[in-house]
Amino acid sequence: MSSTIVILGASSGIGRALARRCLDKGHVVHGLARRAEALASIEGVVAHALDGRDAEALRGVLEAIGGIDHLVLTMNAGSAVGAFAGLSLDRIRAAFDNKVFPYMQAIIAAAPLLSKEGSITLVTGAAGRSAQVGMGVLASTNGALNHLTEVLALELAPIRVNAVAPGVIATDYWAGVPEGDRANFFATVAAKTPVPRIGTADEIADAIVFAIDNRFMTGAIIDCDGGARLK
Ligand SMILES: NC(=O)c1ccc[n+]([C@@H]2O[C@H](COP(=O)([O-])OP(=O)(O)OC[C@H]3O[C@@H](n4cnc5c(N)ncnc54)[C@H](OP(=O)(O)O)[C@@H]3O)[C@@H](O)[C@H]2O)c1
Repeated sequence: MSSTIVILGASSGIGRALARRCLDKGHVVHGLARRAEALASIEGVVAHALDGRDAEALRGVLEAIGGIDHLVLTMNAGSAVGAFAGLSLDRIRAAFDNKVFPYMQAIIAAAPLLSKEGSITLVTGAAGRSAQVGMGVLASTNGALNHLTEVLALELAPIRVNAVAPGVIATDYWAGVPEGDRANFFATVAAKTPVPRIGTADEIADAIVFAIDNRFMTGAIIDCDGGARLK
């Protein structure tokens, strides 16, 4: 059966891979992101260009879409990495502005529009599932969203609410890191990971599809990180 799926962060990486999967399954896919051309290049997607940090724009787009079966939040615009005591409050605040508050606003706006048989999936991050030096802000943003997932599974029931927590995945997320540094970082992470490689956007999209399709799962945090959090 065809469902209406809304993806915040659909223009690249995990959101783009998910949009393609959902279109292949015959669903109606609304893609939200800033870059209109990148959204338009996903054939079949209903594109909505917006900045997810603009709370009113986000509310307006979601209300215009109307009935939603599944909402997936996979937006990101960089974060603050490094020893916590050396970070400024402005950088920390920006990390929350770039992910936590847009996710929260999307959920507030979409809750009355969502089908009771529907779901919300928050793409969080493995940094919110373990303690790692230099990752205090990523632990805070993603950790907050992981805990919010469990509370929302109670408050929004019977709508199902789950999180998918990726490890390091090869996407545009890392585009700002010079190629040589990126390759070294990927090799270092892979060497420490039980599944000794970096993940793919398609593997995370698979986990999100599972969260959407499994009608008995709610309040779950699906770790899709090659086991990185265990080390
Ligand atoms: N890749 C990893 O290693 C990794 C690891 C752990 C967690 N994650 C999480 O996975 C999620 C998806 O990341 P990704 O790897 O797929 O990264 P990505 O390829 O950079 O995709 C990020 C998406 O977010 C959208 N976006 C960013 N800022 C936006 C804004 N202000 N308004 C609207 N859309 C915005 C981007 O579109 P536009 O640029 O067109 O706006 C893009 O579609 C993020 O929440 C990230 O924190 C990723």
